[in-house]
Amino acid sequence: MNAKPQPLVSSASGPLKGAVIPPGDKSISHRAVMLGGLAEGVTTVRGLLEGEDVMRTIGALRELGAKIEKDGDVWRIEGAGPKGLRQPRVTLDMGNSGTSARLLMGILGTRPFASSLTGDASLRKRPMGRVITPLELMGAKVNSRPGGRLPLTITGAAVPVPITYALPVASAQVKSAVLLAGLGAQGTTTVIEKTPTRDHTERMLRRLGASLTVEKTGDGAEAISVTGPARLEGRSVSIPADISSAAFPLVAALLCPGSALEIKNTGINPRRAGLITTLKEMGADIEIINERDENGEPVADLAVRASPLEGVEVPAQRAPSMIDEYPILAIAAACAKGVTRMCGLGELRVKESDRLTLVAEGLRACGTRVETQGDDLIVYGDGLPPLGGAAIATAMDHRIAMSFLVLGIIAREPVTIDDGCMIATSFPGFSEMMNGLGANIRVKQSRLSEPYS
Ligand code: S3P
Repeated sequence: MNAKPQPLVSSASGPLKGAVIPPGDKSISHRAVMLGGLAEGVTTVRGLLEGEDVMRTIGALRELGAKIEKDGDVWRIEGAGPKGLRQPRVTLDMGNSGTSARLLMGILGTRPFASSLTGDASLRKRPMGRVITPLELMGAKVNSRPGGRLPLTITGAAVPVPITYALPVASAQVKSAVLLAGLGAQGTTTVIEKTPTRDHTERMLRRLGASLTVEKTGDGAEAISVTGPARLEGRSVSIPADISSAAFPLVAALLCPGSALEIKNTGINPRRAGLITTLKEMGADIEIINERDENGEPVADLAVRASPLEGVEVPAQRAPSMIDEYPILAIAAACAKGVTRMCGLGELRVKESDRLTLVAEGLRACGTRVETQGDDLIVYGDGLPPLGGAAIATAMDHRIAMSFLVLGIIAREPVTIDDGCMIATSFPGFSEMMNGLGANIRVKQSRLSEPYS
């Protein structure tokens, strides 16, 4: 990560044309590295996201004893086996990555040694208590900064207790942490979730041979159970493009007149695809073609054509299936005709930044009328491109950065972001890919704007 901020400026451009494969799915990449690292034997991974966040997970698993190498296009993970993880000799620095920190805490919560974890300024502000609570019930001891913040030291339970845990917040990270801890406990650990969240951990656990069941409970919730101690087996895995990254060229193409784009090999897991549902309700021309299954994950190509959009109400129950996509949806809403109300976005306040506040402030600075009412975000679009012309503070948040660069492509005046470095956490090569399609994103120089390089 660059120590020096790199301001970027995005100017009116397009139409966007061509075919792209966005980088590999971040959530699935973390899970492939962690579960491959815990398995016996070799896991080979194609399509791994080589972003900063996943590199943090790789660094941590190496330190814990897994052997991880890249051979051509394929990552080869020689797992440490169910009892083979060793105490790290250094503090595990999770950088900007909440998924690395929380899922790893799950693994470490039932391993009989102490590990210290830290992260960057953004991650050190984010709540870890939601993971600490169930892990303590399983017997882990956690010493954190007040408010359950990083840095912390976690000592895994010597005799971990399997638990049944009802998620107090709809979070795939918390669900996954408990399931991963359950792999190291003797007996069945169950997570109960009322609102479905992404199920990549469950799919990957099954693929690597864990004994996992999912049952509907009487009240419409799901009970997901793993039985430990689990022996996972190394397998080959191929990772589709991340729908959360595909979202940026996708929305840019919808908004930029005359655009026609094919976004290939994209994960369309229904628990991740809420953005597509919402954009189609708004009138988007998105065709899902070549639907297929890759290692238990649904994948397709998306054909996208520029479309006039209309405001809609996005129900709160849909939030977990598109939780990372609200910043870019808000950009689409600012260009749509009519009011878009996005309901139940409380979780956005505890992402890499307070996204609810930053999106609202950024859009206002670009001339769009926006309100927040409790946990709802309301964007008033008039069907015309926003004025733009603002300098956006990204607060170390990659998705805020990319969302406002997309706005710059269609706004009447260029949009500047204070720092594009964090984009590398999830979408290395974002600006080059967008420029290759017809966008105009450049490094902002003090006097002159040079082409992005
Ligand atoms: C993720 C889950 C979501 C999401 C994050 C990745 C995962 O977080 O926002 O980017 O890989 O499990 P929460 O579980 O906190 O909602």
